[in-house]
Amino acid sequence: MKGIILAGGTGSRLFPATLALSKQLLPVFDKPMIYYPLSVLMLAGLREILVITTPDDRPAFQRLLGDGRQWGIALDYAVQDRPRGIAEALLIGRAFLAGAPVALILGDNLFYGQGLSPLIRRGIAAAQSGEGATLFAYRVPDPQRYGTLVFDATGRPVDIVEKPSEPPSSLVVTGLYMYDGDAPDAAGDLVPSARGELEITDLNRRYLAAGRCRVERLGRGFAWFDAGTHASLLQAAQFVQTVQDRQGLRIGSVEETAWRMGLIDDTRLGALAAPLRASGYGAYLNDLLDEESDGGVG
Ligand code: G1P
Repeated sequence: MKGIILAGGTGSRLFPATLALSKQLLPVFDKPMIYYPLSVLMLAGLREILVITTPDDRPAFQRLLGDGRQWGIALDYAVQDRPRGIAEALLIGRAFLAGAPVALILGDNLFYGQGLSPLIRRGIAAAQSGEGATLFAYRVPDPQRYGTLVFDATGRPVDIVEKPSEPPSSLVVTGLYMYDGDAPDAAGDLVPSARGELEITDLNRRYLAAGRCRVERLGRGFAWFDAGTHASLLQAAQFVQTVQDRQGLRIGSVEETAWRMGLIDDTRLGALAAPLRASGYGAYLNDLLDEESDGGVG
């Protein structure tokens, strides 16, 4: 199983904030947006991850994330030269995937909640055993902004409508998708939509129609944000600040995730923390080492 983070796009809904800077590099409170989806993939146990950016932004992502070795993972890079849709990520990533199943996550999606990892791991297991696709659904008050699920009378998901003016339900498809090894071929069969994009919803509808799509519901104990507008970016940042301040634990820290997953040792964590001390983020990472020697939480 390999991971893909799609961090392309123009970020037009955040203009002018994203005129000169990639949306997925903007901070969500105290860390770059892409740290959140990256740490989700790491928590899910993925070690080989492709980061897809615009050609212009690629050097900045490489400066930030490097080749991943510092965190015990392997990062590769590819570009999407124009925003031609989320499903195009599977075509761009075809050689990287080399037939492997994939977890695709959008670079502006932030997931948080107790029990997220087991839920994601179930999706991974399904993709690895060739069960098709796994989608993660979340209830929102504004489904017309998203891919919205349609259910039959027995409550079974039967279809998805992209940005419906009259939403058939309140459950929408979040930006985390898992697919078996067939996904790049299936994406290659898609035709661009009216907005000229290869729609991930069209791919998901195919899996659904073939009876090869699981839908996992992220219940009320989960938080999901797509930080793609001014308001949702601020809301996500406020959420992160509130939870972090209350618990004294950080959300979406790739360094902490790598350390807790055993991908890096104490010495490496200390070395990663040192240059970050001035912001308090590094001090937090350093304190984790003391906490551990005090027998603190894992
Ligand atoms: C995309 C998908 C949509 C999905 C959403 C999740 O929308 O097309 O189905 O619900 O991501 O963030 P976009 O962000 O491109 O408007």
